[in-house]
Amino acid sequence: MCGIVGYIGPRQAAPIILESLKKLEYRGYDSAGLAVFSDGEIVTRRCQGKLANLETALRQRPVAGSVGIGHTRWATHGRPSEANAHPHRAGSIVVVHNGIIENYLELKEQLLGKGAKFVSETDTEIVAHLVNEKVQKGTDFLTAVRQSLREIRGSYALVFINQKDPERLIVAKNSTPIVLGSRDGETLIASDIPALLDHTRKVTFLDDGEVAEVRAGSFRIFDEKGKAVSRPVKEITWDAVAARKDGYPHFMLKEIYEQPRTITDTFRGRISLKDGTVSLDGVSLSAAQARRIKRIYLVACGTAWHAALVGKFMLEELAGIPAEADYGSEFRYRAPLIDSRSLLLLISQSGETLDTLAAVEMAREKKARVLSICNVVDSSIARKSDGVFYTHAGPEISVASTKAFTSQLTALYLLAIGLGRLNGHLAKAEAKRLLEDLLHLPHAVEEALKLESEVQRLAQDLSGVSDFLYLGRGINYPIALEGALKLKEISYIHAEGYPAGEMKHGPIALIDEKMPVVVLLPRDRYFQKTLGNLKEVESRAAKVIALTDHDDQAVRAAAYRTLIVPEASHYLTPVVLTIPLQLLAYHAAVQRGTDVDQPRNLAKSVTVE
Ligand code: AGP
Repeated sequence: MCGIVGYIGPRQAAPIILESLKKLEYRGYDSAGLAVFSDGEIVTRRCQGKLANLETALRQRPVAGSVGIGHTRWATHGRPSEANAHPHRAGSIVVVHNGIIENYLELKEQLLGKGAKFVSETDTEIVAHLVNEKVQKGTDFLTAVRQSLREIRGSYALVFINQKDPERLIVAKNSTPIVLGSRDGETLIASDIPALLDHTRKVTFLDDGEVAEVRAGSFRIFDEKGKAVSRPVKEITWDAVAARKDGYPHFMLKEIYEQPRTITDTFRGRISLKDGTVSLDGVSLSAAQARRIKRIYLVACGTAWHAALVGKFMLEELAGIPAEADYGSEFRYRAPLIDSRSLLLLISQSGETLDTLAAVEMAREKKARVLSICNVVDSSIARKSDGVFYTHAGPEISVASTKAFTSQLTALYLLAIGLGRLNGHLAKAEAKRLLEDLLHLPHAVEEALKLESEVQRLAQDLSGVSDFLYLGRGINYPIALEGALKLKEISYIHAEGYPAGEMKHGPIALIDEKMPVVVLLPRDRYFQKTLGNLKEVESRAAKVIALTDHDDQAVRAAAYRTLIVPEASHYLTPVVLTIPLQLLAYHAAVQRGTDVDQPRNLAKSVTVE
């Protein structure tokens, strides 16, 4: 997720673009840049790192001009660097992009075959080349963009500037937001509302497939067929801070609702239904190397460790490779029997967790291969790994990890299928079925989000309790742990996740009418057993919150509340069950008035031991 802006009007563009980018820095901040049409030339300034670096560069070398585009980056393809920073240029065309071009490699091959030269590792640069090659042949700028869009697949919000035609900017949108605002002879373009609020509260959103021709003080919008369309002008009543949260009261709730898109972005461009294969970009493992893996050691902390526990089931069952999951803080102090046939798989949203990073040195000493699943490109763990399979969840601002967690589960699912196909354990037909299941996941998560008002009422009913128990079995036991962690870390209510079958070995002594028990019991191979556990705790006066994927009378009869999520395949049910648990933790915290996005004593990234 990146931030893009554009300006065309009577004022100096650079300061307006810079201030607008600052309002979008929460969308990405590993590099930034802008391009301004100045005295007949397009002048570009780009910097790695925070936006402040670009501000310094502009102070040292100002750029005059009243038409320009800008970008603040959250890398998905190509590490953070000046060369990979946007804007990107080809000939007279300069472009900024937010999104993922799925077929950029094949397009790049085609362009290289025509003699194009590339200076970055990004998917965006190919779009500048596609438009430039048409403009150089005399095609109109707007037409060249529309023709180029027909060649690319993926998600994009694009803003183009053409050195040969600087009276207009061309904007294109598909699956990634872009909003326009015009007033007093100028027009602004941005990924998100906060960037416009200093200038106008009257905004127009583009729809998927639409292209806009933007001039100073006006714009025209065209649909995919090139037909002019009109879009409603919306009056924004939010203030800038609320707008950064997209109108949500907290980043955590915004990020919970982003999950259908972040799950989609994590698998987008990586699966082939036709072949039943997964593109493990960034992993570079041959079939022989995959077959040689004797054991996988998943190493992570906190929520990422819960993802690792789910990943163990996926890797063992879909790739046929023995796997174990360790806390980073435990792994580094034990003597794991790793060797050159071991694979360490580190999972970390920030890519900076020191306890997880420590596993790398152990792997190096024992010649074990290290792969990682990270959300931050070029983070410390990513840089020290032999390969990285990135989640594409965008910046996760709230300390509580939500969208990163479900993106990690999605990445683990893809990795397990990819490894299973590579080492021959997983047949093509089975892989195709598993990938088809994945395509249904975003919708299932959308449906699960509709439970929010029911969960909010439940949180209100239980606002006085001081202890919670979460029970689950098998692949969903880690989700019981995750639900408990979410609740305790943001509402400060003590909570514990436990294997449902283990209750009779001690913890059932805790049960009384003051102890709500969340029981995860989808209709899977453990259902009857877990129903038995549910009745054990209910018969001891516990308030049972049953979380299931089908309407079962026995469950309803025994439970205080029954929440029903959509059915999903066995390996993806953990993702769907997580959603109401995230919402329960969120609303319990709101009830208690805690600092939801910045809970006490916690940091977003634990870079200390
Ligand atoms: C989860 O909500 C917490 N914020 C915390 O447990 C987190 O998952 C853990 O610190 C690991 O962080 P990482 O994924 O950045 O390595």
